[in-house]
Amino acid sequence: MDDTIKHVASPLARQTLLDSDLTRPVAGGRPIPLLPWVQVIKIGGRSIMDRGHEAILPIVAELRALLPEHRMLILTGAGIRARHLYSVGLDLGLPVGSLQPLAASEAGQNGHILGCLLAPEGVSYIEHPTIASQLAIHLSASRAVVGSAFPPYHHHEFPNSRIPLHRADTGAFLLADALGAAGLTIVEDVDGVYTDDPNGPDGKKAQLLRETSFGDLAKLKGTLPFDPTLLEVMANARHIERVQVVNGLVPGRLAAALRGQHVGSIIRTGARPA
Ligand SMILES: Nc1ncnc2c1ncn2[C@@H]1O[C@H](COP(=O)(O)OP(=O)(O)O)[C@@H](O)[C@H]1O
Ligand SMILES: [Mg+2]
Repeated sequence: MDDTIKHVASPLARQTLLDSDLTRPVAGGRPIPLLPWVQVIKIGGRSIMDRGHEAILPIVAELRALLPEHRMLILTGAGIRARHLYSVGLDLGLPVGSLQPLAASEAGQNGHILGCLLAPEGVSYIEHPTIASQLAIHLSASRAVVGSAFPPYHHHEFPNSRIPLHRADTGAFLLADALGAAGLTIVEDVDGVYTDDPNGPDGKKAQLLRETSFGDLAKLKGTLPFDPTLLEVMANARHIERVQVVNGLVPGRLAAALRGQHVGSIIRTGARPA
């Protein structure tokens, strides 16, 4: 009796956490999905929000129409204002961990805009701590909430770049995977991921990749319509097996994607089917 009080039995109690062969039997299992019914939607800052009402109002109408069908976590990215912040901050020599929350605040501003437009439907903007600890209750009270897609790293900065590497796409994916969400849809101003920037100098030669994988995209030489670090986190995904990138400027594409149709680029991640 005394023994069990003094020595709490735990499979990790007597071993180092540095040897993955030893920790795997305990820590190698798949985590439970926390909100397996939530659809995560990332709305681009530059591609959608910066275009103003012409791009935003049709997306809002589509989100509104989807409310009876889906419970949604709508996450917004940063656009032109974050780029301005980066250039002022970099000129002053600010470290990346100080720039990151400044850019994240623009993602939040974009979220507030969507929150206002969807307020009559009971949708509100919620801050990161609320997403972290009270998302379930908010999504029980309302069919959808809006938040900032940026991951909050502040001064826990990754020192290999002066511009934050983990931006809205990476943040949205990390959240969706941690929640074990039903899906993640990334809304852009192009039909999906191409072999090269379709709006770049060689844009005419670029081909749409209707179906691809994080591994194939990592081999592409050119740019991508999302943060390159998204590919790194996709490699280690536990729940989200595919992400669809859709064109939010074409009416109906977002709604079709949420209804399970293949209307953009589907990117397979490293997650294995359950
Ligand atoms: N391989 C690619 N496939 C598709 N779009 C690309 C690619 N490389 C660059 N882009 C560009 O990315 C743009 C989207 O810009 P982005 O910075 O991702 O916007 P947002 O901040 O809204 O996510 C597209 O309009 C397109 O010109
Ligand atoms: Mg993008």
